[in-house]
Amino acid sequence: MQSSLKGNNGPRYRHTAQSGEPYQTIRIDKLTPIIGAEIAGIDLAKPLSEQQEAEIHRALAENLVIFFRDQHLTCQQHLDFGRRFGDLHIHPAAPSEPGIPELMIIHADRESPRANGEGWHTDVSCDAEPPMGSILYIRTCPPHGGDTLFASMYAAYDALSERMKTYLAGMQARHESEHVYRGMFANFGVADKPSYPSAEHPVVRTHPVTGKKALYVNRGFTRNLIGVPSDESDGMLRYLYEHVENPLFQCRFRWRASSIAFWDNRCVQHRAMWDYWPHTRTGNRVTVAGDRPY
Ligand code: SIN
Repeated sequence: MQSSLKGNNGPRYRHTAQSGEPYQTIRIDKLTPIIGAEIAGIDLAKPLSEQQEAEIHRALAENLVIFFRDQHLTCQQHLDFGRRFGDLHIHPAAPSEPGIPELMIIHADRESPRANGEGWHTDVSCDAEPPMGSILYIRTCPPHGGDTLFASMYAAYDALSERMKTYLAGMQARHESEHVYRGMFANFGVADKPSYPSAEHPVVRTHPVTGKKALYVNRGFTRNLIGVPSDESDGMLRYLYEHVENPLFQCRFRWRASSIAFWDNRCVQHRAMWDYWPHTRTGNRVTVAGDRPY
């Protein structure tokens, strides 16, 4: 059951709208007041001006995940777009295009035993320096379904009670990936590695650009809270996972062929729906490297 966010005086979580300067080079169409916006008026196959790049940065900071429709990018243009935002991250386990380790394959079809990202997660939070953002370009869509859900971890943090915020302040959690990645990509012909990453991160992290606090535990990778008994850690993580999945914090993106989603892993979790079997959904993800959470 979803936890109620009703306090005694209306909703416990109230979103404060931004009221910034109008954008000059792009148009913004918000999916919800809390998370997600479609960006129009830009062709990402063309070199970006400094102002366009700055406005995309701003749109990402304000909306957490941004979407672009009707983009026609080569692999190189996709990589070049990612490099405007930082060095590219190489996934520790997933398949990539031949000779291009930075270009991850996202693909599911009739033969697939699974699809990428089916549970709520933050990309590769098991890395000591987890990715800042992910840029997914879907080329082929099923006739229906294959949506991706995104959730704001700022909203999830803000909606916690003050007592819970105090409890979690300064706490660290262990993130692991052995249980996720071993054997996971065998159907793509990917051989397992001797070991997979693990790291400790703060349960509440501060976003380096916005300065806002975000809840940073996810069902995919977070195994336990540090410094408390295991039964307390299990119970608390169960509560937090249920809390972050409240639909109030979410948007849901309906893909069309040639769309791009760019999400900020420092303040967003996501989940892909594999509801389209036996149809095919295929594309590539470029992932932008990040910093150590604090
Ligand atoms: C992922 O990067 O987790 C996959 C997301 C998706 O396929 O929508």
